[in-house]
Amino acid sequence: MARLGDEVSNKQVIFRDYVQGYPKESDMYLTTGTIKLEVLEGSKAVLVKNLYLSCDPRMQFFMRQGETPNGYKFKPGSPVFGYGVAKVLDSGHPEFTTGDLVWGITGWEEYSLITETESLIKITHTDVPLSYYTGILGMPGMTVYAGFYEVAAPKKGEYVFVSAASGAVGQLLGQFAKLTGCYVVGSAGSKEKVDLLKNELGFDEAFNYKEEHDLNAALKRYFPEGIDVYFEHVGGKMLDAVLLNMRHNGRIAACGMISQYNIDEPEGIKNLMHIGFKWIRMQGYTHHNYYHLYPKFLDVVLPYIREKKIVDTAAQRDRRGSSFVTAYTSSHKQLQQHTDVPLSYHTGHLGMPGMAAFVGFYEVSSPKKGEYVFVSAASGAVIQLVGQFAKLSGCYVVGSAGSREKVNLVKNKFGFDDAFNYKEEDDPDAALKRPHLSLPIEVLFRSLEIWILQSLCFLFVITYFPEGIDIYFENVGGKTLDAVLPNMRLHGRIAVCGMISQYNLEQPEA
Ligand SMILES: NC(=O)c1ccc[n+]([C@@H]2O[C@H](COP(=O)([O-])OP(=O)(O)OC[C@H]3O[C@@H](n4cnc5c(N)ncnc54)[C@H](OP(=O)(O)O)[C@@H]3O)[C@@H](O)[C@H]2O)c1
Repeated sequence: MARLGDEVSNKQVIFRDYVQGYPKESDMYLTTGTIKLEVLEGSKAVLVKNLYLSCDPRMQFFMRQGETPNGYKFKPGSPVFGYGVAKVLDSGHPEFTTGDLVWGITGWEEYSLITETESLIKITHTDVPLSYYTGILGMPGMTVYAGFYEVAAPKKGEYVFVSAASGAVGQLLGQFAKLTGCYVVGSAGSKEKVDLLKNELGFDEAFNYKEEHDLNAALKRYFPEGIDVYFEHVGGKMLDAVLLNMRHNGRIAACGMISQYNIDEPEGIKNLMHIGFKWIRMQGYTHHNYYHLYPKFLDVVLPYIREKKIVDTAAQRDRRGSSFVTAYTSSHKQLQQHTDVPLSYHTGHLGMPGMAAFVGFYEVSSPKKGEYVFVSAASGAVIQLVGQFAKLSGCYVVGSAGSREKVNLVKNKFGFDDAFNYKEEDDPDAALKRPHLSLPIEVLFRSLEIWILQSLCFLFVITYFPEGIDIYFENVGGKTLDAVLPNMRLHGRIAVCGMISQYNLEQPEA
């Protein structure tokens, strides 16, 4: 376990360069640097170990050149930053001491030396999930509190519409409105989200805006008497349709307009005159202006959470769907007591893939010392572990992977006895001429192309296992499985973990 003063490795998500349009995963990359675990004498910085990180819509603005909200901007070559929860390891700041839990702006890395400490807030209530401080008890929660109580102030019996309703902000607004006695409808972009709103979060109604050709008609269906309060998160066509359906003295709390963030030319709004016709008040706001209310906010929200009157599903799951983001927002996965290992391991060795490897190895196939083990997709999260388990058990282990880098990784880093790139064969001709091609497997060949590929797989297998295979950890299926089968030894075991080569085919291979 790392101690203060140690120099330790620090996995980081680095911002590559400024972007235009929609951000992509390739705009960031992963690297491992080092950090000395100490705050220098005289500095007011705080050194933290990051526990939870959140990926929020506003971060896409920080990836652009030009003006950004609150002046934040990522620096090319430096770690991405955003809201997170962290544990203080060392502090030169009078308000924070070692062992404190804090939330605020931190880096997308394992350890951060935070010099701009203004956003850090000490966590004093730890009887609720810590991840809530990236959601209901953090920036999104504060945004909701400001929008709900300070800007729109819905009253009992009023008609409330929330767009992007399943998002971190929208789902809390809907629940606040229900607790106040309002009629609440939300819009979201999938059936699952609509079900979540209606069945788990207590919205009176919800609809999938992507399935509505006429948003005006959809709103009339759900609000025959009109809308008193609209919590605006998307802008564009939705805002135009809402304006037509607002009631007199209606309020629009303009929190965000996510549909407009990445388009070259923002859409125009045609129905703004309804603001005048119906005496509508539309007000923009940002959480930044309301942190003086944070203690009051906690007084309101904590009892709701403890009494389970309000839940935060966004802080418990990844809400963006990018695998890169998912891996580094371990935020949305509850962290157990073992924080002396890299946090990201909870999405790998110590998480679901580790469990799959453990079960496949020890419970399903139980390799014994000296046995011959073949693993496909060998550099993947599950199988790199299986191979290492097998080596620790004294087996001979060979893996297949899809690039030279992965083959090197498997051989040099994970200690496999051998590995090969199943996509490459220097001499396909020679492979085709091999005498073993007359084995029964040949009858399955359907075309020359498949025949070539299949014979390559076959060649690999018999080249690496002249005495046959005792155990095959199956992850790819198709031609590789076909090639493995005739090479299995008596009493061989195949642990079928997955068949990834078949997942996206219209017709699985026979
Ligand atoms: N003013 C502030 O201080 C403040 C603070 C936090 C957030 N915000 C704003 O509040 C909004 C929601 O934030 P959040 O944290 O709740 O976000 P979130 O949890 O990331 O959810 C955002 C949701 O927006 C929906 N969306 C994305 N693109 C869309 C489009 N083109 N049209 C319609 N819906 C779209 C998606 O859901 P669907 O599948 O339903 O489309 C997405 O899941 C954003 O506009 C954000 O910028 C403002």
